[in-house]
Amino acid sequence: MTQPQPIHTTHIPGRVRVLTGAKPTADLHVGNYFGAIRPAIEASHDPAKEVILMCVDWHGLTDRAKILEPGKFSASLLATYLTMGFSLENNMVILQSEIPEIPEMAWYLSCVSAVGLLERAHAYKDALGSGKEPTVGLFNYPILMASDIVTFDAQVVPVGKDQSQHLEYASDMVKLFNNAVGRPVLFEPKAEIQPTPLLIGIDGERKMSKSYGNHVPLFAPKKEIEKKIKEIKTDSKGLDDPKDPESCAVFQIMKSFGSKEAIAYMEERLRQGTGYGYGHAKKDLIDEHERVFGSKRELYEHYLNSPRELAQVLAPSHQRARTIAATVRQRVRDALSLGIL
Ligand code: AMP
Ligand code: TRP
Repeated sequence: MTQPQPIHTTHIPGRVRVLTGAKPTADLHVGNYFGAIRPAIEASHDPAKEVILMCVDWHGLTDRAKILEPGKFSASLLATYLTMGFSLENNMVILQSEIPEIPEMAWYLSCVSAVGLLERAHAYKDALGSGKEPTVGLFNYPILMASDIVTFDAQVVPVGKDQSQHLEYASDMVKLFNNAVGRPVLFEPKAEIQPTPLLIGIDGERKMSKSYGNHVPLFAPKKEIEKKIKEIKTDSKGLDDPKDPESCAVFQIMKSFGSKEAIAYMEERLRQGTGYGYGHAKKDLIDEHERVFGSKRELYEHYLNSPRELAQVLAPSHQRARTIAATVRQRVRDALSLGIL
């Protein structure tokens, strides 16, 4: 921390508030589970943390051509975290667009942020470079993200390396704001850059990504999962040859979601080789996928088919999140002498 923090915060003593943002997209896959979903679920079971998992649907709106997508996919993102075991006991799962305090905060932050700062943002520069016409929404994306963070007095924000600039911006904006009002009002977050490596796709070459079509979905029909797993590229080693698990995509994918036992079994059988070909490994991976995700498909679909129930399950999260947001909002408005009373 580089500067004094506010004295009155909304934190619970003994618990670090962790904020994770996840963009709603179609067809979550095993790569998302490994890199984003599972770590957040594990954090939600840590008694030293208070985790806010926020589906950042507003962030998904910045591309005019895809403006209808976030609304379509939010429920599936939220349902996935709940289905896979995110603990709501001392944590929150929320939808960004349910928190009107966030865009208000974005306005305050935009009034202390220089245009030049945002012009240097990677995502904006990339969009310009590729000849696209960025929307103001895309330009303001880092401000909205900083608002997500400060609106909840977030202390720690776990992100991938690609998001480190956004976190630096959030710290910059906090400093600019606190300096402008002359006292520490906003809490400065700490970025926690995740060491998680990228999971390889079924082509055995590139990172697993929906845009490459090399992904294994989480909750697609069993037939589709089987087809994808059977397509995993392997080398031409025969049934009885010893095989190297580290260079085997089937094993890498198994490692990303399998139980310790299933991982250890496949590793040993591959190394020994005898009587264990890639076909056997794929069959084991299909079974493990069915055990971990397939067995939860019904619950996942239940949430998707009952939006009312999903809303009900999330109601306490939204209520608590809005209480925090209202407190921080008041702190900011007081610091700016806004309002009549
Ligand atoms: P995306 O929608 O592709 O940006 O993915 C959302 C998040 O899922 C990323 O920020 C990563 O944390 C995680 N993720 C996506 N693809 C992979 C992958 N192949 N390996 C590990 N993590 C991934
Ligand atoms: N920009 C992040 C991403 O693309 C998503 C995000 C939005 C986020 N708001 C956030 C992440 C707040 C952490 C905290 O992955």
